[in-house]
Formats: sequence, C-alpha cells, structure tokens
Amino acid sequence: MLLFRLFGSALLLRVGNVFGGGIMTGKQCSSSSIRYLNQSEAVALDQDLFNEYKFSVDQLMELAGLSVAMAVAKVYPPSLYKSSLIVCGPGNNGGDGLVAARHMKLFGYKVAVHYPKRTPRPLYENLLHQCKNFGVDIVEQLPHPKDLINDYNILVDALFGFSFKPPVRDELKPALDALLDSGLPVCSVDIPSGWDVENGPNTDRALKPALLISLSAPKLCAKPEFLGDAKHYLGGRFLPLGIITKYKLNLPPYLEQEQVVQLSC
Ligand SMILES: *[C@@H]1O[C@H](CO)[C@@H](O)[C@H](O)[C@H]1NC(C)=O
Repeated sequence: MLLFRLFGSALLLRVGNVFGGGIMTGKQCSSSSIRYLNQSEAVALDQDLFNEYKFSVDQLMELAGLSVAMAVAKVYPPSLYKSSLIVCGPGNNGGDGLVAARHMKLFGYKVAVHYPKRTPRPLYENLLHQCKNFGVDIVEQLPHPKDLINDYNILVDALFGFSFKPPVRDELKPALDALLDSGLPVCSVDIPSGWDVENGPNTDRALKPALLISLSAPKLCAKPEFLGDAKHYLGGRFLPLGIITKYKLNLPPYLEQEQVVQLSC
C-alpha cells in the first residue's frame, strides 16, 4: 500500500517536472497542461450536465459548495481563520456560496452570509433556511469595507459566476466593494467577481483574490498570467468521462477521495 503511494507520488513529481508545473512540495500541484474553457464552452458544459446527464442543479451545487468549503479549509484552516463572511450573489454562484457556508459551519468556522439580492426560488430559499438553522449569521447591512477586518478573518466571494456580463448592477456594488476594499484574503468561487470570464481583471479596480476555486474545469480567466500568486484549486468532482472527452479537458487527477486538487502553488 505504502509502496503504491510512494510510486504514485514519484510519478506525479515527474509529470509535474515535464510540464514545468509549480513547486512540488510532496503535494500534487500542476497547472501548465490544463485546458481553460471560454464562456460559451462553460455554459455548454453546464447544460450538458443537466440535459444529457440528468443532474439537478441541487446535486451539482451541493458538490460544488462542498469543494469550495474544503479548498478554503485547506488554505485557511478554521483553527487559524475562525471567522468568515460569504458574499452571495443572486445566481448559481451565490447558491454555491450558501452551500459552502453550511459546510464551513460544520468544519468549525464562525460563518456569516451577506445575500443582498435574493432569488425567489425554492432551491435558494431552502439553502438560506438551512444556513439559518445551522447557526450561520445572516448579515443584512455590511459595515464599511475597512471595518470588516474587525469581525472577519476571510471572505468568500460567491457573487458572480461564469455567466457574468458587465456592468455590475448598482444594488450589488456595495457587496463587490466589500470584497475589493476590506484588505482581507478573498476566496473566489469559480470566477473572481467583476472579472471578465475570458480576459480576466480588465478594469482599473479589479479584485485580487488570494484563492480561486475553479469548479468542474477552469475558465480562461483562471490562467496563471491573471491569477499571479493566488492559490488555485479545482473542485466539483462530478464530471462524467463523456464530458471530459467531449471538451478535451486535461484535468489533474483527484487524489484518493479528495473533493479538490491544487492546480498551482
Ligand atoms: C469557445 O471555444 C470553442 C471551442 O474551442 C470555439 O468553437 C468558440 O468559437 C469559442 N468561443 C469564443 C467566443 O471564442
């Protein structure tokens, strides 16, 4: 058993070296051979999961949110980063955030959610209801961004996802400002909010996440040239082989039962 694992690690190290992957520290860590999806491919892949593979939104959201919580906990463990604020948008990205909030609570974080623009659909209402019942604090009015540091150690950005098209609506600007100006580490779900899904941070005042968790497969804005020194994880371990083949995805393998894999160090 141990031999197998040692052999496996050695193999990963070699693959990493061949592709000039990030620094190998005994953990799996690779990036440069990855294929990045453009916006229409991301939309099409999502549709395939629902239409061809008969997944429900709830199912995928649960696994996506769980992997967000797991990646956050790996980089910012609750023993050191006790208090978290999850900023949720009106769409599926916000739903992933609500799921992540519930799991982060179970992982031992103090969790607050800011969810300024709510979607009146049972899925979202139920997720919010679950958050409340799990002891997640619902924050209606955010303090000034500079004051967030008094209450929180990390922020989770679940505001906009891969279907985002600018401009940012006025009612969501304060939520984005909180992510931009708090000075706290920001963990972005799938797409750093406000970024162009394909061209990355192309505004003067662009978010600089400390951690990005790409879901199912990274989008073009997750390229290292845009992410800089941010940590990058892949989550959403639910893609069927047919999709991996159809979209020619070249994803690193998840180890054992892990729900996330690190893409760059
Ligand atoms: C997205 O990628 C697909 C597949 O490579 C390509 O056919 C399509 O033209 C691309 N879309 C845009 C807008 O670049």
